[in-house]
Amino acid sequence: MTNQDPKLERLNQMRLQSMAGGGPARVEKQRKAGKLTARERLDLLLDPGSFREVDAFVVHRERNFGMDRPENQFLGDSVVTGWGTINGRLVYVYSQDFTVMGGSLSEAHAEKICKIMDMAMKNGAPIIGLNDSGGARIQEGVFSLGGYADIFLRNTLASGFIPQLSVIMGPCAGGAVYSPALTDFIFMVKDTSYMFVTGPDVVRAVTHEDVTFEELGGAMIHNAISGVSHVAANSEEDALFLIREILTYIPQNNMEDPPFEPTKDDPLRTEEALNTLVPDDPSKPYDVKELIRLIVDEGRFFEIHEHFAKNIVVGFARLGGHSVGIVANQPAVLAGVLDIDASEKAARFIRFCDAFNIPLITFEDVPGFMPGLAQEHGGIIRSGAKLLYAYCEATVPKITVVTRKAYGGAYCVMNSKHIRSDLNLAWPTAEIAVMGPDGAVNIIFRRELAEAEDPAQRKAELVQEYRERFANPYVAASRGFIDDVIVPSETRPRLINALEMLQNKRDSNPPKKHGNIPL
Ligand code: HXC
Repeated sequence: MTNQDPKLERLNQMRLQSMAGGGPARVEKQRKAGKLTARERLDLLLDPGSFREVDAFVVHRERNFGMDRPENQFLGDSVVTGWGTINGRLVYVYSQDFTVMGGSLSEAHAEKICKIMDMAMKNGAPIIGLNDSGGARIQEGVFSLGGYADIFLRNTLASGFIPQLSVIMGPCAGGAVYSPALTDFIFMVKDTSYMFVTGPDVVRAVTHEDVTFEELGGAMIHNAISGVSHVAANSEEDALFLIREILTYIPQNNMEDPPFEPTKDDPLRTEEALNTLVPDDPSKPYDVKELIRLIVDEGRFFEIHEHFAKNIVVGFARLGGHSVGIVANQPAVLAGVLDIDASEKAARFIRFCDAFNIPLITFEDVPGFMPGLAQEHGGIIRSGAKLLYAYCEATVPKITVVTRKAYGGAYCVMNSKHIRSDLNLAWPTAEIAVMGPDGAVNIIFRRELAEAEDPAQRKAELVQEYRERFANPYVAASRGFIDDVIVPSETRPRLINALEMLQNKRDSNPPKKHGNIPL
């Protein structure tokens, strides 16, 4: 065939047509809204030249409401689908095109997404969805709703099988939110994306609350308050860059190990600053993120849920090149107490890591579960149980470092030896007991204190006695609940050694259809 061949010419024309989206005016409107087009986003997300599109010639089937008119027919409809590579590794993608009928989901649009999801599952590679859509294609009624349900089913079947990532880059409203909600991580772009089940108009009519799109479901609302979103990106470019980065910690599917990335950071590096990081006064805070950065490869930590339930810190890092999931109580926020949000945040992260063979490192400094009416009535029993369940169920290598407090039920929950932790290390500053010395003395010596000549003096003596007896790691170590007490500065080499020792760990749960995590 020569370039002038009419068949090739037609193909070229069709390709150009399919790439034009909703036309120049709508593309311009998209830009004015501060948004990139569906294809520009894919160009930024994928390795240059790696994108291969499918279904570029698919059109919607609706014939009513003037939908059969040529101006309402768009090649490819309102979504661009295909595959490509990120850092040389295969990924499947879909990118909703807001310039075509507001990116709304027609039956054909849903079929395109389902096809690419099926391919991702068959070939064991992550699926990434770039969402920018006005929701169900109103003209298509139940065909559109059926399309959503087809996607939800696939999201659920793919869960724990291949990683699923969602980026919200515009509207994501109504039942449409439930596809991203079923995926592993939701990234939202600040100022230009929003998610809600019912929009401001309906809210006003039903609850008489007057809210803007941003107040109802903007990026920071879902990152800081609802916890629906895991990462808040400053711009679309930032969001796509972060997707490329998070994938470096994650395997292609549940049968593979996460990628190993050689590091120049010495695995034997000791860090003197760790020896003085924990203050002598047990009620003084310190920043556990500083601790994490001092220990992990090149100080690089990819935080998940940075703005939500800040009293616990979770995210990905590498140790000696091995990808790890980190769960750390944060003494700098609410003394690192476990509450409802913190428990759910950590539980979900732990289950992701376990599903995808990413070892878990826990840094523990926790005074216990949060007391109070709001927490009890809000169901902290159920939420705390989720965290406990997630740790108990996980069979990946699990290592704990107790840096300071490990009190009460929280001691059991935070990957204690008793729930199948592989290695439990403690710093000399660790305090492992049923409760803090102050509270304990008030209870067990109540009568003695009431009768004492100088109650304050006697209490100080008893607290000191209790502290010497219990508020240290050696009682737990005497039973083997703590495997070793280590010098804080040596934490990095000890963890890397442990990860290598556990590299071939095999463990499993009893055969069953599935467990019943307390939801
Ligand atoms: C068909 C739609 C559409 C939709 C937008 N468009 N949403 N077409 N079905 N759901 C079209 C518009 O007609 C317009 O076409 C173009 O997309 C851009 O829309 P605008 O309104 O001009 O854009 P903007 O001002 O930015 O507003 C965006 C919007 C608004 C906030 C998303 O379009 C909107 O409210 N849309 C309806 C949202 C909605 O109610 N969806 C159904 C939710 S229920 P032209 O030709 O002018 O470019 C749902 C159920 C799912 O999704 C259930 C799953 C279980």
